[in-house]
Order: sequence, then structure tokens, then C-alpha cells
Amino acid sequence: MSDGRDGDRAAWLDGSGAECPAETEVDHPWRLILLGAPGVGKGTQADLLHSRLGACHLSTGDVFRTAATRTDCALSPAMQQALEYMRRGELVPDTTVWEMVRERRSCLRCRGGFILDGFPRTLRQAESLKQLLLDESLTLNAVVNYELPLQEIVERLSGRRTCEQCKAVFHVTRQPSRTEGLCDRCGGRLFQREDDRSESVTVRMTAYEKSTAPLIRFYQDLGLLLPIPASGSPEEILARTLLELEKRRAWNHQVAS
Ligand code: AP5
Repeated sequence: MSDGRDGDRAAWLDGSGAECPAETEVDHPWRLILLGAPGVGKGTQADLLHSRLGACHLSTGDVFRTAATRTDCALSPAMQQALEYMRRGELVPDTTVWEMVRERRSCLRCRGGFILDGFPRTLRQAESLKQLLLDESLTLNAVVNYELPLQEIVERLSGRRTCEQCKAVFHVTRQPSRTEGLCDRCGGRLFQREDDRSESVTVRMTAYEKSTAPLIRFYQDLGLLLPIPASGSPEEILARTLLELEKRRAWNHQVAS
């Protein structure tokens, strides 16, 4: 049984010098950022987009959660501190997040492209990423911003269950696993994230409004923003996203020719 972390996911999740071993070379790789409030469905869409576009799903939250479950090495003081912030629902300090992403910058060069989920989350992170992509001669194709009313977001968060091994995401009523408590993909145990408790959710929403929402304007000004309504089934949202991405690509070709 696979733990679902082979290939590109393992390189991203484990970090430190790991080279991205993805074998699929895509003609026109997509390099995307997914924006949106906590629980809007970014991880779910990143997973579906990965299956359709071949680009690696790079989630900073998954890196932290993976570190939290590691038993083979002691966590650095910075990582221990980061996990405390995460439990409370607060943002991890920019310096810690940036150090972690910089260590994994080979993942950004993946021949299949990338889908960043949960990063950047502050203007400082966005500026650092912009510079890194410039240094690496990589072009960001689009920033997808998922939009949903708060009430529905809270409903999605309260029913979320996550696989402790491969990080696949389910929902107790909307997307239940075939066997209760077990992951369909790898058989791992499903758990409820600590930061999905209501007091942490409130802190996360406040952090989003204060620090992450300004990124909408930042990417709009760069002409990269694609707003997508996040209501409906995951497949409907995926179809909406793919349509907008195709329009974006066609438009870019038109401008270039
Ligand atoms: P992170 O893991 O990035 O969490 P998040 O942004 O809060 O987003 P979530 O993972 O909660 O939600 P999602 O939008 O991915 O929704 P999902 O697809 O799971 O970050 C966690 C923490 O790490 C942060 O709070 C912070 O402390 C730290 N951190 C990470 N990155 C950082 C950074 N760059 N800077 C600073 N700190 C950082 O879906 C939610 C639920 O809804 C699931 O149950 C799913 O099954 C269900 N669902 C999804 N789509 C649908 C649908 N269409 N219909 C019905 N149900 C659906």
C-alpha cells in the first residue's frame, strides 16, 4: 500500500535538499498560486488540478503537519515554535516560512509545474516569492482566488477529516470516505485537524482578513488574478477553474503572437 507521498510530494514534504523526481515533462507547465480563506477548498482543488494538469501540489500547511508527525528527528526550535502558532490558528512568522520554502526551491523548478497552496500568505512572502521566481527565470501563469460565503466555509471546516499519511482531505457528510475513519487512497487513519476547533478557526479567519486578503489586490495589480466562485461540487469548481485557465492561456498566446 502506498503512503501517497512518493515522487514530487515526498520531495516537497520532506524537504532539505530533496530533488523533485517528477518524470512527466509537460509541454506548457502551469505555475499557479491558489488563494482563498481557510477551508474554502484550496487543498481539494490543488489535488484535482494536480491530477488534470500534472503540476505538483505544494502546500506549506502540509509541510508543517508532516513535521509535526515526524518521529525520526528532533524538530528545530523554529519548527517547534511554528507548530505552536499553527495550533492556535495564527500565521507562522514570515522568516520561518520563507526558510522552509527556500530550502525546497528545487520543487518550483519541477518540469511539471507547480500549484502553491497556502503560500504566499502575506505581502512580504509574496514579494520574496516574486524575487525568487525572477531569479529562477520562472513565470507565474495565474493566481486563482476561490470565493465562498463565510457560513459555508465554517461548515466545510467543521466536517473536515484529513489522512495522517497522505494528507488526502475528506468531509464527514459532503465527501465521506468509503470506510469511516480510513483514507480511500492509502488506508491511513483520518483525523480532525487541531486548528479546525472553533476558537482556532476564528483566529485563522482574522489572520486571513488582515494578512492574506491584501494579496488579492497585489496579484490583481500584476494582472494575474482569476476569481473563481467556490460553491458547488469539487468537480464543478474544477471545471470552472480549468475553463478560466484555458481562457488565460489563449489570451496570453494572443498577446504574444
Ligand atoms: P493550511 O494548511 O494552508 O490551511 P488553510 O489555508 O487554513 O486552508 P485549509 O487547509 O484549512 O483549507 P483549504 O482551503 O485547503 O480547504 P480543503 O480543501 O481542506 O495552513 C494551516 C496553518 O499553517 C495556518 O493557519 C498557519 O498557521 C500555517 N501556515 C501555512 N502556510 C503558511 C504561510 N505561508 N505563512 C504563515 N503560516 C502558514 O477543504 C475544507 C473542507 O471542505 C474539507 O473537508 C473538504 O472535503 C471540504 N470541501 C472542499 N471542497 C468542497 C466542496 N466543493 N463542497 C463541499 N465540501 C468541500
